[in-house]
Amino acid sequence: MMELGPAEDGGSYIEELMELTAQSLSRLEIQEHFNVIKEIGRGKYGRVLLVTHRCRGTPMALKVLPKASTKLKGFLREYCISLRLSSHPCIVGLFGIAFQSDEHYGFAQELVVGRDLFAIIKPRVGISERVVKRCAVQIASALEFIHHLGLVHRDIKPENVLLLDTQCRHVKLADFGLTQKRGTFIRYISSTLPYMAPELCAMVPEAGQETPKVPPLSIQPNLDTWAFGVLLFCILTGFFPWENCTSTDSFYEEFAEWRQNPETTEVPSQWMRFTPVCMEMFAKLLTLEPNDRPTADVVKGYVGKDWVRPKCPNGLMGENGGVSSMTTLSSPCRSSPVLQ
Ligand SMILES: Nc1ncnc2c1ncn2[C@@H]1O[C@H](COP(=O)(O)OP(=O)(O)O)[C@@H](O)[C@H]1O
Ligand SMILES: [Mg+2]
Repeated sequence: MMELGPAEDGGSYIEELMELTAQSLSRLEIQEHFNVIKEIGRGKYGRVLLVTHRCRGTPMALKVLPKASTKLKGFLREYCISLRLSSHPCIVGLFGIAFQSDEHYGFAQELVVGRDLFAIIKPRVGISERVVKRCAVQIASALEFIHHLGLVHRDIKPENVLLLDTQCRHVKLADFGLTQKRGTFIRYISSTLPYMAPELCAMVPEAGQETPKVPPLSIQPNLDTWAFGVLLFCILTGFFPWENCTSTDSFYEEFAEWRQNPETTEVPSQWMRFTPVCMEMFAKLLTLEPNDRPTADVVKGYVGKDWVRPKCPNGLMGENGGVSSMTTLSSPCRSSPVLQ
């Protein structure tokens, strides 16, 4: 049996698994082997179908990726990484079934019957602190596992957190479509998302240019730490803290100014709803300098403390805590950028 060694071996194990899967990838037509009941999810890259296995009747979530827009290598990487990680209780399970049809690549996942985390965020309100903390601990544990294997998820956002129950007593991280080995280089990205760290947002080339002015970026777990911080803000408030981490975004600029000069600058208004100890946690997760950013499990030290201030009776923070011009979370924001 192949044994997985220390962190750095995660990547080579995955590569070996990809080669073996490529050699034995079965060819089948979805309708011949599965009863398709309905579509239960759709992301930027694929669709997820609720199916039952024709012989056994087992319900499954089939992730199907069109061959027209998916490279075989990318599909194999997503499947093999998902398979390697699926033993963790807070990561979606797999059945070990991967296939290609005429038009699709696909693999069978455990069916997670609740919705995803995005679906339960009340725009402009968020989710209760108690429930957020349950999610936070589980996501941190999943990230610890992923990072220990030398991998970086790269698409941490509420849409990729699946719920087994509405109170988030058990959640599972999914979607390893962008996951890469730590240390892989990115030369540029074509667009940004609110979850992307500043060093990643700097990888968008200026208009008319093919590559950005900055050198290639080495993918590190600290990208997930940043995205996790943004996710926590989103689910606690129902707002994005900013649209992207560039100098053209005033919400980000205000935050960066506070991070650089915390003694002389006030906490930006949209962050005032949080307690000082919670801001200490956010300041760690959202450390501007990537090399100084801690691992995601730093959150575990804060779950026993209060995060949100009690409601201000005189309305000093305003109805939305000073965030009325911020982008609320709503379905058009369900998207992922393409990363090269
Ligand atoms: N195993 C699953 N069980 C139930 N729903 C799922 C499952 N996997 C994904 N989904 C739903 O499908 C959506 C898209 O799946 P995802 O793997 O994130 O695709 P993409 O790579 O295109 O973003 C998710 O946001 C989620 O709502
Ligand atoms: Mg997704």
